[in-house]
Amino acid sequence: MTNESSKKAVLSLDGKQIDLPILSGTLGPDVIDVKDVLTSEYFTFDPGFMATASCESKITFIDGDKGILLHRGYPIDQLAEQANYLEVAYLLLKGELPNSTQKAEFEHLVSTHTMVHDQLRKFFEGFRRDAHPMAVMCGVVGALSAFYHDGLDVSDPKHGEITAIRLIAKIPTLAAMSYKYTSGQPFMYPRNDLNYAENFLYMMFATPADVDYKVNPVLAKAMDRIFILHADHEQNASTSTVRMAGSTGANPYACIAAGIAALWGPAHGGANEAVLKMLDEIGTVENVAAFMEKVKTKEVKLMGFGHRVYKNFDPRAKVMKQTCDEVLAALGINDPQLTLALELERIALSDPYFIERKLYPNVDFYSGIILKAIGIPTSMFTVIFALARTVGWISHWLEMHSAPYKIARPRQLYTGSPQRDFTPEKDRK
Ligand code: ACO
Repeated sequence: MTNESSKKAVLSLDGKQIDLPILSGTLGPDVIDVKDVLTSEYFTFDPGFMATASCESKITFIDGDKGILLHRGYPIDQLAEQANYLEVAYLLLKGELPNSTQKAEFEHLVSTHTMVHDQLRKFFEGFRRDAHPMAVMCGVVGALSAFYHDGLDVSDPKHGEITAIRLIAKIPTLAAMSYKYTSGQPFMYPRNDLNYAENFLYMMFATPADVDYKVNPVLAKAMDRIFILHADHEQNASTSTVRMAGSTGANPYACIAAGIAALWGPAHGGANEAVLKMLDEIGTVENVAAFMEKVKTKEVKLMGFGHRVYKNFDPRAKVMKQTCDEVLAALGINDPQLTLALELERIALSDPYFIERKLYPNVDFYSGIILKAIGIPTSMFTVIFALARTVGWISHWLEMHSAPYKIARPRQLYTGSPQRDFTPEKDRK
């Protein structure tokens, strides 16, 4: 609940004083409520939303300076250590961790909605076989809206709840299908006897020929941890996209497809794929110094570094690094790319260019190395992120629909041509 503070900001405009209320949340900076500025014929200007809180939310809190990330109040490292992904999903959706009965019911509900309508196969067949799996995901998740549209009332909480379950349950199935399609292997149906991460790995790597296929528990645990670390991150670009699309009353499956599209870019979720490509390009530790020079002359970016919010460290990156060490040790892998990544990190953390700009490894810096160890191809990295983030997106969509909301409609600072008359003989010359 927001509280109006007794403090006020005063804006002086054209000799008039406008009082702007200051609102306080439970944690984080107070916000200046600028809605009233509109009445005085001025808009506020904040490209990239650098200083703008776009909504009120109770789901996730980040303190970027201190490197804190809380889901419903719980620190991410404690959740990653002590909970599994479906518990975190329940927490994000409902506000509290489930007790053992609620946990069992939720797991049952999710595992009995994992199949997708068989007609969805036909959508896959429309893609080129070498299509990027994120392109496929944008299409097939959007296509779910065609299966669940008539009769879906976005203002009915029961409809919202079943939509959330369907999305969380079906997204691993669609993600694995997008891999199987592009690799030319038959789709594997989900297995309800496996847990969330195991089922995903089974659908990815089992084949009808390999009847004895068993999921490696070390890999399933690492996969689950990766899902937790990507589950939500407050009002990032893709979540804001989902909220923005949702604010028009659009079909929620279509809104999630919009989130997937926003996530794909290399400045956001596409960074995990970009990190591995960067490590491939650098090749060996000897080439690191020359690469860093190119970063400093702004020829290239150090992918997996920097964050709009975290200016000290990304708490997810800490857990990810630890998971990376555990997975590589458990599998007995000595990945030279990890050595390369460590060297990049070492130089970056001691170089004034990065220190001055407060650039630290983000969640994507190490996730690629773990995903590679699990056997996930590079083109699927961002799909894994989308899979895990779906619960965050739908939690925000549900939160938005649980109270009155306004259509998201930013203003602009117009710098185009002033009004002029269209004179065909002159203008068509
Ligand atoms: N490598 C080199 N320099 C960088 C990097 C980087 N990765 N990130 C920022 N900088 C520099 C900028 O050039 C700028 O320098 P300047 O002051 O000399 O102009 C300064 O640091 C500030 O950068 P901004 O672009 O203003 O920071 P912003 O908050 O807008 O961008 C972003 C954040 C997009 C994440 C950026 O750091 C980036 O592109 N990082 C690489 C991509 C990446 O890893 N993305 C994943 C983010 S986490 C996630 O989405 C899950």
